[in-house]
Amino acid sequence: MTKIASNLQIDSARLWDTIHETAKFGATPKGGVRRLTLGPEDKQVRDWFRGACEAAGLEVHVDALGSMFGLRKGRDMSKPPVGLGSHLDTQPTGGKFDGVLGTLAALEVVRTLNDAGIETETPICIVNWTNEEGSRFAPATMASAAYAGDYTTEDILGRKDLAGVSVGEALDSIGYRGDEAVGLRKFGAFVELHIEQGPLLEAENKTIGVVDRGQGIVWYDGKITGFESHAGTTPMPLRRDALATLSEIVLAVERTAKAHGPNAVGTVGEAVIAAPSRNVIPGEIAFTVDIRSPDAKTLDAIDRDLRSAIAEIGSRRRAEITFDAIWRKPPTVFNAKLVDAIENATKALGYSHRRITSGAGHDACNLANVVPSAMVFVPCKDGVSHNELEDATQVDCTAGANVLLHTVLAIAGVAS
Ligand code: GLV
Ligand code: MN
Ligand code: MN
Repeated sequence: MTKIASNLQIDSARLWDTIHETAKFGATPKGGVRRLTLGPEDKQVRDWFRGACEAAGLEVHVDALGSMFGLRKGRDMSKPPVGLGSHLDTQPTGGKFDGVLGTLAALEVVRTLNDAGIETETPICIVNWTNEEGSRFAPATMASAAYAGDYTTEDILGRKDLAGVSVGEALDSIGYRGDEAVGLRKFGAFVELHIEQGPLLEAENKTIGVVDRGQGIVWYDGKITGFESHAGTTPMPLRRDALATLSEIVLAVERTAKAHGPNAVGTVGEAVIAAPSRNVIPGEIAFTVDIRSPDAKTLDAIDRDLRSAIAEIGSRRRAEITFDAIWRKPPTVFNAKLVDAIENATKALGYSHRRITSGAGHDACNLANVVPSAMVFVPCKDGVSHNELEDATQVDCTAGANVLLHTVLAIAGVAS
């Protein structure tokens, strides 16, 4: 590699400015971001991203699920590009960094190569994946999963949000249903930079997490049908209270995850009473469950124990309960050679580091099924994410982007 390439660093201030510039699209009063996938704020950030890609000389393509690809030509266009990127959608009360860092750091890598006049051997393609978060449309990471062949495009286009709007309608309403077939744009490798979203790097005072695995995830949709009746007149033993039933289920999820710990977690993140009223005993509730573990057998065991606990609770409380797994993402093992390449780039840059398993789901976990993939983590403050208080330092974000840059240089090659 030429001397200029081996000494190259990204522009820290420019990266930091772009993170804060895009944080205004959907900014919340508490300093976070609300940018639900395919909503008006997502359109704003997408338009911004398209403009920034074009200004950096990239050819922008959009696929049929709205994922955006910015292609930087390489010397040898017969070789597949190195893919880098993440997502620009957020949770309803999300932060400025989840997904944004990896997408804008990919842009910063391209800008840095442009400024240094470096041509790579293979092309580079930076990506903004549609709906990583999964909070408006389930499942999470749906566009990259379809890219990897886990779902058909038609299936994903038909998924609906709570208001009954389909993915296809939402794409059309913001003008981001592209014409490129999903999965058509092949990569030679895919690398995603992300904040850790957990506490380990910060606790160990490490700058870089070299991610070699990802947890498996199962999402469930549940529904409890009890019986609505008068809060003043229905004696306690006669009630079929859906909310009291849910309370037991919430505790069963917590107990089951703990029993299979320490590397297992379980969460009830949504619960909606069908017709809430303070003097009506709740008769119908919809709820969701999210369970995760790096170990597939542990996930199966939690599934089994949870189903038997729910069956027992339902029969004792005379409530009908449906509990359906709507998404199963097996644990991910990232590509060993690519993980080593990230570790080597990290060492060459002199950053402290450790190997780490991702607790969150990521688009790279889907890509890993079809192309060598891996991830780079940087610490976030107090391990907090999916929260408006989510925070990371400029120094750490810069370090992560430099690791991304040097990993790309190593695998895309510098044209001589
Ligand atoms: C995505 O953010 C997830 O891990 O659920
Ligand atoms: Mn994310
Ligand atoms: Mn997230």
